[in-house]
Amino acid sequence: GEFVHILGNKVTVLNENKEVVKKEVSEITWDVEAASKGGFDSFMAKEIYEQPKGVEDTLLRRLDENGRIKLDDIKITKEDLDKINKIYIVACGTAYHAGLVGKYAIEKFAKIPVIADIASEFRYSDPFIDDKTLAIFVSQSGETLDTLAALREAKERGATTLAITNVIGSSISREADKVVYTMAGPEIAVASTKAYTTQVVMFYLFSLYLAEQRGVITQEEYSRIMSELISIPEKINFDLKRLEKVKEIASFLKDKTNGFYIGRGLDYRVALEGSLKIKEVSYIHTEAFPSGELKHGTIALIEEGTPVVVLATQRDLMDKSISNIKELKARGAHVIAIGHETSENLKLVADDFIPISESDDLVSGILSVIPVQALAYYTSVAKGIDVDKPKNLAKSVTVE
Ligand code: M6R
Repeated sequence: GEFVHILGNKVTVLNENKEVVKKEVSEITWDVEAASKGGFDSFMAKEIYEQPKGVEDTLLRRLDENGRIKLDDIKITKEDLDKINKIYIVACGTAYHAGLVGKYAIEKFAKIPVIADIASEFRYSDPFIDDKTLAIFVSQSGETLDTLAALREAKERGATTLAITNVIGSSISREADKVVYTMAGPEIAVASTKAYTTQVVMFYLFSLYLAEQRGVITQEEYSRIMSELISIPEKINFDLKRLEKVKEIASFLKDKTNGFYIGRGLDYRVALEGSLKIKEVSYIHTEAFPSGELKHGTIALIEEGTPVVVLATQRDLMDKSISNIKELKARGAHVIAIGHETSENLKLVADDFIPISESDDLVSGILSVIPVQALAYYTSVAKGIDVDKPKNLAKSVTVE
């Protein structure tokens, strides 16, 4: 059958009639193409390199012949939207970080207030939810227990629920009122990479769709952002071919025990994901925070050689980011900046510079996440860690 998903020793496959069935691992004849490493030395590497395809498939699946977004199957009409006065986005880990970008996109384009919450907090917090709430649950596996429990809680309180998941037939996809699938293909490595980028792209599509339904976006802006999105797979592809600098930085980071990831606006959300990724696969303690918070405490920890990854793709905030970098460097930090390839001033001030392809600032997070994933990957490999199966972690957290 067609391989869909592994969870512990249970495997989900599609049978000849395209029905979802669960089997024991031992019963499976693997779909070699989907489940093997395809020439890569790890699933994480393979999955990082599969991102152009995952993003493209997620986009293509949702575009009609005129290049407009079709989400008719989830049936959210203008009337439904008029009833909704807020959106919750609930998830764990990397899926939560995708949700933070989702909040950014929905508020920016669709102009609906969004609360993003971590599922294990949401379910015990007496959340402010009623029948005017749309609650979105993001989960690669569709099986994460806290996210599933949060979904049940939201339903009970009368919210309309929407799942964004990668696994057909998963518990979350079955229990949500509406579901959209990311087209990342099976994600095997514990560290999530391609699921994240496809979730983020899905959020952009959803937010543009909502914006259009509500009549709060001009046709020019809609088309401009759509063409930015359509150009993303090619740009990721290009950026994946210039990771030499990232490899070099990884060999410097491997001997460090701690570091920081900072950014402003959209960059801060990517900083959170970069920090999680390197903790998870490289066992280096890092913390992410908004750059403006530096002088409210954390700068006390900066010493000679402390690595600080500065995400700086937001051009309107560039002067602020550059002055943060100067403050950091004055205290001895080793600054690794990630920004658009033409950001000359950033290049000049940083110790190391990792370029990403030019894009509109509104979508640059989909590109800047690639080098932070790669940095975590190469640092893990440089430390001799089993990058696909870092210690103490499971692919899906399905127990309390
Ligand atoms: O399957 P899910 O998306 O619900 O999983 C959520 C988190 O457990 C997951 O993203 C986790 O944080 C990853 N290991 C991060 O790389």
